[in-house]
Amino acid sequence: MIPVTKPYFPDLTEIKKALDEIWQNEWITNNGPYFQRYEEELRDFFSAEHLLVTTNGTIALQIAIKALGLTGEIITTPFSYVATSSAIVWEGAEPVYVDIDPETFNIDPLKIEQAITPKTTAILATHCFGNPCDVDAIAAIAQKHGLRVIYDAAHCFGTNFRGESIMNFGDVSTLSLHATKLIHCGEGGAIITKDSELNKKMWYMRNFGHDGPGRFQEVGVNGKNSELHAALGSVVLRDMKQIFAKRKDQSERYDLLLQNTKLRKQRIHHSTDFNYAYYPVVFQSGESRARVQEALKQQDILARRYFYPSLSSLPYVSDFDTPLSDALADTILCLPLFHTLTDEDQQRIGGIILGALAA
Ligand SMILES: Cc1ncc(COP(=O)(O)O)c(C=O)c1O
Repeated sequence: MIPVTKPYFPDLTEIKKALDEIWQNEWITNNGPYFQRYEEELRDFFSAEHLLVTTNGTIALQIAIKALGLTGEIITTPFSYVATSSAIVWEGAEPVYVDIDPETFNIDPLKIEQAITPKTTAILATHCFGNPCDVDAIAAIAQKHGLRVIYDAAHCFGTNFRGESIMNFGDVSTLSLHATKLIHCGEGGAIITKDSELNKKMWYMRNFGHDGPGRFQEVGVNGKNSELHAALGSVVLRDMKQIFAKRKDQSERYDLLLQNTKLRKQRIHHSTDFNYAYYPVVFQSGESRARVQEALKQQDILARRYFYPSLSSLPYVSDFDTPLSDALADTILCLPLFHTLTDEDQQRIGGIILGALAA
């Protein structure tokens, strides 16, 4: 079977060494030395002023929304993973969906202003598959209307825009370090901001609001992470150059294999150093997407409808018309992409796709 994704497994001897040390330290969680080091390593990698490692990318979004005090309506994208929307609803705000640009797959800034009402407090946009949003247009709208901006940058490890990490845009960016992400720590996430006061608030919130053993500064949650995750994360980080290079090679191989088809690819924002985390392709119809997906499945190869469904159709949100996102959710497939996917696997996948398209 070829799955759509597989976690990257670093050298086990390095993990065992780290585990030995953790056992000697007798420190499993609560701001241990591995956790502190991992946080520092990530902060350095992104050249971030402030970065907090969290339990996962979902709690990172929830803490960001809570810390910014967002209520009312939050303008967001219908084409993202469910966590982008559920975090808004979980925090008691209402998602207002603005349709996407079908070329970039990101929220269309030209449609944002029409959706602003007196209740709007923020824009929560996803850099879809690691492709930067139109951050200039979004910043200009936010400034004009006094809105806050959160970027769900779950997919963005390694993406730079105009020479700097895409993590450093907006009021806050959130990252996922889940096992299926390009760079991961098993389960984890991070919150990045340039705002010292906001960072302080989120720092308290991540740890129950504790300000010392018997003192509480803020309402909080348990958004910490453990020594075990941090150790795994640090060891994975050491291999990042080869992880990025391999992913780029594999993407370019798919490009070659599929070059004579009518499959459409995501248009990547200019001035971007892209991370090639996913390989999404868009079919001309839902019918051809289904035919190819089934042909791959017959050979035990899993391609994923990602993202599906369009979030504006979730049962717990108000109705919004997002035809472009709906159409993309119907016609998109992410092809298998992971570190140990071989050239032969890709040749096979390419052959099956070409065969099914010609059928
Ligand atoms: C766009 C997006 N946002 C948020 C998340 C949630 O991240 P996590 O799984 O680390 O909670 C994901 C995870 O897949 C995602 O793809």
